[in-house]
Amino acid sequence: MSAATTVELSALSPGDLDAVHGLEIDSSPDPWSRELLAGELDGDRADRLWLVAAVGRGRRRRIVGFGGVLLVVDDVHVMNLVVAPGQRRRRVASRLLASLLLAAGDRGATAATLEVRTDNVAAIELYRRFGFEVAGRRPRYYADGADAEIMWCHGLYRPDVRARLRTLGGLE
Ligand SMILES: CC(C)(COP(=O)(O)OP(=O)(O)OC[C@H]1O[C@@H](n2cnc3c(N)ncnc32)[C@H](O)[C@@H]1OP(=O)(O)O)[C@@H](O)C(=O)NCCC(=O)NCCS
Repeated sequence: MSAATTVELSALSPGDLDAVHGLEIDSSPDPWSRELLAGELDGDRADRLWLVAAVGRGRRRRIVGFGGVLLVVDDVHVMNLVVAPGQRRRRVASRLLASLLLAAGDRGATAATLEVRTDNVAAIELYRRFGFEVAGRRPRYYADGADAEIMWCHGLYRPDVRARLRTLGGLE
């Protein structure tokens, strides 16, 4: 993918699940199962938003990233955000994250939170860039015993925060 290649975002659909699960396996030490991912599409999951990022069209369409958030009252929890190893540092995650947070804001979310492995420099740098700050730590949060940082980003309703999200996501 060249820097100029267009990345299209769309809602996660059942036909995307194999590709998304493949990315998850390639990218996470503690991957979600296919069943868990499929469950996110079951029934009326109005409290969830999942987006995939794809390049190409029709038979050439290839998923290069995905992300999902859970809305809980007026908070939004970033559940997952993954970009294919060969497609990183091209702002795909930024586009996904900005789009998810803006959509969550449209649905009334005022703050975003997430857990991230303390040694996940790439993700922590990405989230800091988006205005997330470390608010605490969950010891042994992950199945392999690794700790998680808890991060928060406030003010999703504020025009200046929303404008910054659009800029960071390349959505203008
Ligand atoms: C974290 C992840 C989603 C980032 O995806 P990405 O598409 O490469 O991120 P972006 O290109 O949008 O990066 C935007 C900014 O984040 C920061 N960043 C991203 N990757 C980084 C890295 N490896 N090291 C340092 N900073 C990094 C930089 O500030 C970057 O801007 P720059 O490239 O201009 O320096 C990707 O590395 C990934 O899929 N990792 C494995 C899964 C994972 O850990 N997900 C997070 C779960 S909490």
